[in-house]
Amino acid sequence: MAIAAKSKKGGNASGAMRAARKAVHLLVVLATILYLVTGLGITEFRTVEPLTGGLLTKTLSFQLHNALLYPFIVLLALHIFFALRAKRTGAPGER
Ligand code: HEM
Ligand code: HEM
Repeated sequence: MAIAAKSKKGGNASGAMRAARKAVHLLVVLATILYLVTGLGITEFRTVEPLTGGLLTKTLSFQLHNALLYPFIVLLALHIFFALRAKRTGAPGER
């Protein structure tokens, strides 16, 4: 909501928009990796537990895997919003 409002106001806020877009890219990639790792932490816990020094237990994997749902949806929505907006405005340096 706040971001949509910002984009309406500032046609010239490309620096901040670009930084936000990059941050969302990074987070959406991290969330995806975490999804894959914790997913494997549930199904392959006999391998993943020792590999992570006993840190990523099956229980923790399960909790993280489930907790990721809403943040992931929000991040993906933001990512698509920013990506399509960057494409539409096509400002040089926006990439
Ligand atoms: C981007 C990748 C992934 C996404 C978005 C994702 C998403 C989800 C979601 C939303 C659920 C909850 C389903 C429910 O509540 O019934 C779930 C459950 C599960 N996922 Fe994933 N997942 C991903 C990757 C993986 C991978 C790579 C594995 C394993 C190889 C995995 C294993 C599981 C298992 C075993 C469950 C069931 C947990 C339970 O018993 O409730 N996931 N996943
Ligand atoms: C888990 C899913 C996804 C991940 C991890 C992901 C990640 C990324 C990354 C890392 C970039 C490159 C950013 C850069 O050039 O610095 C990118 C660009 C892009 N993505 Fe995704 N993406 C995902 C899903 C999607 C979906 C579902 C859509 C569209 C419906 C989409 C549309 C785009 C577009 C249009 C770009 C290029 C524009 C830009 O650089 O902002 N992505 N994505």
